[in-house]
Amino acid sequence: MSTVAQLLQPVESDLEQLLSDLRALIGAGHPILQAAAEHLFSAGGKRLRPGIVLLLSRALDPAGELSLRHRRLAQITEMIHTASLVHDDVVDEANTRRGVPTVHSRFNSRVAVLAGDFLFAQSSWHLANLDDLEVVKLLSRVIMDLAEGEIRQGLFRYDTGQSLETYLEKSYWKTASLMANSAKAAGVLSELERDQLNQLHSFGRQLGLAFQIVDDILDFTGSDDQLGKPAASDLASGTLTAPVIYAMEEHPSLAVLIEREFSEPDDLDQALDLVRQSQGIQRARVLAESMARESTTNLKFLPASASRDALMDLPDFVLSRLY
Ligand code: IPE
Ligand code: IPE
Ligand code: MG
Ligand code: MG
Repeated sequence: MSTVAQLLQPVESDLEQLLSDLRALIGAGHPILQAAAEHLFSAGGKRLRPGIVLLLSRALDPAGELSLRHRRLAQITEMIHTASLVHDDVVDEANTRRGVPTVHSRFNSRVAVLAGDFLFAQSSWHLANLDDLEVVKLLSRVIMDLAEGEIRQGLFRYDTGQSLETYLEKSYWKTASLMANSAKAAGVLSELERDQLNQLHSFGRQLGLAFQIVDDILDFTGSDDQLGKPAASDLASGTLTAPVIYAMEEHPSLAVLIEREFSEPDDLDQALDLVRQSQGIQRARVLAESMARESTTNLKFLPASASRDALMDLPDFVLSRLY
């Protein structure tokens, strides 16, 4: 089993550089916002998304090198991701992230909303300064999709009528869109053909969906410490993910508990037990596996390199988080 650090080894020093560049970029802001942003950048997430952008960028360069614009794209990608997490944690009322207190719990919601806005605004500015209209469109679409996904998730809380399709659509907006469009944008900066750009989009889409399904399984199987964020919280807040959608087919009584929003004392524990005893987790795992494995069929056109090998190992990393 490879850790994310081993996997991202070909771009290890690029990622280190990314962190110091991000600190420098954010540094000009208001002190409180800076403290909030800094807090997250230094707390160390997996940096998977900028890692993918950097690996692709190196894999696409004949000499394996990295342009300043590709570097900037990786920074923008992590900025957008971090902004979305700061806001997501306010919406979810989550107290920890990346193993440390969330911005809103350490400061307050006002600071967290402003800090997220600040990061989105910074990312838009640097995006525009890349001076490539197609890249601007791809990444600004991601910001729209993130909002759409978060709103959809809010509207569908405790809604037992939702299907696997609506769940996957929402997951595309919330998670896969960033991976798909940032991968494609790396290809745009490398001046790839349309066909290959579409393949990069499909790669990010499938890997992103698999990643979200795995995250949703871990919410049922992981601990707070393991995850660095609160576990068993999706169902409690009425967010119905793949394991629950499958489990409801097996246990119709689960839908009853959800529809009454766990209003009786034992409801939530019973519901969690029903999901854990069902085939839901196993079926969600199979779905994540098939999407993750399929994702790399889109990367066959990349020439041989250490970066390509690392990209090809991404599905195993994503799935290994389950074991
Ligand atoms: C968390 O993403 C949000 C999801 C899409 C599940 P990550 O698990 O990649 O978060 P960090 O960046 O490593 O903290
Ligand atoms: C992904 O969804 C978060 C965003 C893309 C904003 P989750 O709500 O599952 O993420 P976690 O579990 O809080 O990291
Ligand atoms: Mg959340
Ligand atoms: Mg989650």
